[in-house]
Amino acid sequence: MNHVPRSEIFDDVYFSPVDGLAEARYVYLEGNKLPDSWKGRDCFTICELGFGTGLDFLAVLQLLAMSPAEDKPKVLHYISFEKYPLTKDVIKAALSHWGVLDSVLDALLSKYPDDSEEGVYDLAIMEGVTLTLIIGDVNDALPELNAQVDCWFLAGFKPSTNPDMWSDLVFQNMARLSAQATTFSTFTAVGYVRRGLTSVGFDVQKISGFGYKWHMLVGTYDGGKQCA
Ligand SMILES: C[S@@+](CC[C@H](N)C(=O)[O-])C[C@H]1O[C@@H](n2cnc3c(N)ncnc32)[C@H](O)[C@@H]1O
Repeated sequence: MNHVPRSEIFDDVYFSPVDGLAEARYVYLEGNKLPDSWKGRDCFTICELGFGTGLDFLAVLQLLAMSPAEDKPKVLHYISFEKYPLTKDVIKAALSHWGVLDSVLDALLSKYPDDSEEGVYDLAIMEGVTLTLIIGDVNDALPELNAQVDCWFLAGFKPSTNPDMWSDLVFQNMARLSAQATTFSTFTAVGYVRRGLTSVGFDVQKISGFGYKWHMLVGTYDGGKQCA
């Protein structure tokens, strides 16, 4: 039975009750043209705002596992921010019914921190994959980040109840950290998110959304630095 966790604080679900894995694949993988975007790259950095259950991360790991060696980056760095980390038990209950994720879920849970102290957790999940889980408020921690991001997953709760995940400070730091031809995607198409991303230099497009959602946003940032 599919168990979709819900946040009382934000009055929202962690992923779509229609099919969270299909949503993750549609919104974040296809929305960022993965796997094409990472083909031929030595290193590729994804930054997610809102780790939650880790479903989006596991969708990436599963895609990586299915890709031929010559098509995947030698090093994948996945950075994710989370203010209210879930426990291993909650993550397991939420994700274990997707048998296809079993091995990557085990890999995540074997390294996932037991405590929820604020800080930066660098977790070597498997060969060639590092998860940097940053426990804290994104508005405090993102300005401290030093990275060159190739792709953004904007995965906060809905903007009406979780405005901190969609702040101007977040958008400004996304522009600061973006590499050349960086992409982003998000499940929401709310006007102020579209305007905020446009105002810092992203080229934003509204496309069909997943499940019950009419629209979502995708886009690119061309002002970033060339990856070394
Ligand atoms: C929709 S859920 C993320 C779903 C997730 N990507 C998944 O695969 O399960 C949004 C997440 O953002 C986190 N969050 C909300 N406000 C935050 C903040 N100010 N800073 C960091 N994380 C925050 C929530 O705790 C929640 O885990």
